Amino acid sequence: MLKEGLEKQEILKILEKKLSPDYSYDSGFILGSMCTAPLNFGKEIYMKYINKNLGDPGLFPGTSDLENELIDEIGNLFGGNNITGAFTTGGSEANLIAMRIVKKLRNDIKNPEVIVPVSAHASFDKAEDILGIKLKKVNLNEDYELDLNHFESLLNRKTCGVVGIAGTTSLGLIDPIDEIGKIIEGKDIFFHIDAAFGGFVLPFLEKLSYKIRPWDFRVQTVNSITADPHKMGLGVIPSGGFLIRDPSILKKLGFEIPYLAGGNFKHFQIVGTRPGGPVIAFWAIIKLLGLNGFTNIVKECMKNTQYLVKRISEIKGIKIVAKPVMNVVGITTESGESICKIDEELRKKKWMLGKFVDLNLIRAVIMPHVQKPHLSKFIEDLENILKKMKIS
Ligand SMILES: Cc1ncc(COP(=O)(O)O)c(C=O)c1O
Repeated sequence: MLKEGLEKQEILKILEKKLSPDYSYDSGFILGSMCTAPLNFGKEIYMKYINKNLGDPGLFPGTSDLENELIDEIGNLFGGNNITGAFTTGGSEANLIAMRIVKKLRNDIKNPEVIVPVSAHASFDKAEDILGIKLKKVNLNEDYELDLNHFESLLNRKTCGVVGIAGTTSLGLIDPIDEIGKIIEGKDIFFHIDAAFGGFVLPFLEKLSYKIRPWDFRVQTVNSITADPHKMGLGVIPSGGFLIRDPSILKKLGFEIPYLAGGNFKHFQIVGTRPGGPVIAFWAIIKLLGLNGFTNIVKECMKNTQYLVKRISEIKGIKIVAKPVMNVVGITTESGESICKIDEELRKKKWMLGKFVDLNLIRAVIMPHVQKPHLSKFIEDLENILKKMKIS
């Protein structure tokens, strides 16, 4: 029940206590999250502009212009020109927007189907449930590569969309987006790329001369991309991004919101009231870091990723699942024995990795908050656990 108001100091004390079970990024224990601590400058800007509401862009035309400018800049980074779109609450909302577009563009199809890799993020299952589309899941081969023959066999007259992933949730791998694009060329099928994680890694890996498969708007058949600033973009939480090549689609599929104080605007986003603060913060982060700043961050993450891979490869009883393309490392047992017990023991020591039971792997994401000393300590604890379990 609501009681009398408290003193601020008292509230702060209560909060400190109540939130003390939370993990912190700088502890290094958060080893399996695709989010990280936002850049400090981004936090400052966010706090300054926290009251901006992009749900009513007519009241905040400056913020709205900044969002368009930012989307255009990100679109350029992804090899596009005059790309439009919007900030979202994250990759799930961006993927949901994409799936709604996929369905609406082909309302001539009675029971619409979308082909997604079996490695696709759970947000596509949510979209299936919410939108009433049918997901057709493509198998992966033993190298965790999308099986293109299986993909082709799933195409039919009900297929209205296809999804490729640039940075899978489980292993950070990239689908053969170019090849998928060639297969669907000339067909009336929308091609969406989920680069929620990879979007703010891959352009910088390319700058570092890593050989990266084509995945972005440079693939001519790609229609839209999800890319999240709150993952490797170091944006404030939440910050997602949806980008689309053809601007007319958003105009066509937006909802008129008749009551806005700022005048007539259409919403194509899932949410109504939309925070402008994260958009302004990410604009500032991009300006501050620039291409070199982001490239250096990714370079450091890859150096730490390679360090972890090397240390894991020296331990008997466990192995790396697939050679990392980006800063995501899957770890499994050499014998095929379940990884779950190891994960359980790691959690007792506070190490929080992602667990993928279907693939029998635990996944470390080497985000900017993960430093080499954290990884050394992690390896030490892991070796002790394996000895105790008589696995090594
Ligand atoms: C590839 C991919 N897509 C989408 C998402 C969903 O993003 P969010 O949690 O920001 O909604 C994730 C989350 O990790 C992801 O890895």
